[in-house]
Amino acid sequence: MSLFDLTGKVVLITGSSRGIGKASAIACAAQGAKVVISSRKQDACDAVAAEINAGFGEGTAIAVAANISDKAALQHLVDETRRGFGRIDVLVCNAASNPYYGPQAGIPDDQFRKILDNNIISNHWLISMVVPEMRERRDGSIVIVSSIGGLRGSTVIGAYCISKAADMQLARNLAHEYGPDNIRVNCIAPGLIKTDFAKALWDDEAKVAERNATTPLRRIGEPEEIAGAVVYLASAASAFMTGQTMVIDGGVTI
Ligand SMILES: NC(=O)c1ccc[n+]([C@@H]2O[C@H](COP(=O)([O-])OP(=O)(O)OC[C@H]3O[C@@H](n4cnc5c(N)ncnc54)[C@H](OP(=O)(O)O)[C@@H]3O)[C@@H](O)[C@H]2O)c1
Repeated sequence: MSLFDLTGKVVLITGSSRGIGKASAIACAAQGAKVVISSRKQDACDAVAAEINAGFGEGTAIAVAANISDKAALQHLVDETRRGFGRIDVLVCNAASNPYYGPQAGIPDDQFRKILDNNIISNHWLISMVVPEMRERRDGSIVIVSSIGGLRGSTVIGAYCISKAADMQLARNLAHEYGPDNIRVNCIAPGLIKTDFAKALWDDEAKVAERNATTPLRRIGEPEEIAGAVVYLASAASAFMTGQTMVIDGGVTI
């Protein structure tokens, strides 16, 4: 059996209607997992679930919309997943927000709070909802999609970077807390990836050229290039890894 096999596993991924989340859902389905597609828009989630069911067999994917800022909606997502698939083996906290671009001094309080709520507190909520069944089974993997922004200073997306650094600390704390029950908690820190989320950063040719020049692999990444790490962290291949952050950035932070 492959170390990366996910047959019989149920993987719930937030923000999986497009970008890194969608690519990760497809990659997990390709390894035999059942996947739960979620974002704020039910129709977009339905379309991705239909695509996955067409490719990997009916019953591989279900779609449940949930805004990560809404605690009741997250509980509904967990309840519907248990109703549809009976369990959650792997949780991927992937959705995040970044409504502000500019110096730290100028950030309105409500936008700063939204970033902290959506990128940190919502992960804490969702993990807390899922972890009891993982504890009972003494098995589970939780993946938080952080960012290399959490490893560096920034003059324009500082609050977002604070939230992504906090995600790495959340993983370390929870790895200690849940490790004795064989639940692993890790982060992935992508560099610049070609998705809608980062469009402002890669849409401008001059900015991309500048970025590429300082990136050893001389290009930005594709969502599929993060999905392999999600499969790795979800699977037995990473059984002895917890509390860590995997940097996948074409080498830009070295
Ligand atoms: N792209 C990059 O360069 C990059 C780099 C480092 C880290 N990341 C991280 O990677 C993760 C995924 O981003 P991405 O680049 O794949 O973005 P993306 O392609 O824009 O996808 C974002 C996904 O999250 C959903 N979403 C957004 N706000 C949400 C909310 N409040 N509640 C629930 N779902 C929500 C979106 O669907 P709806 O809009 O329909 O809700 C969509 O499915 C994020 O945590 C981001 O911080 C990205």
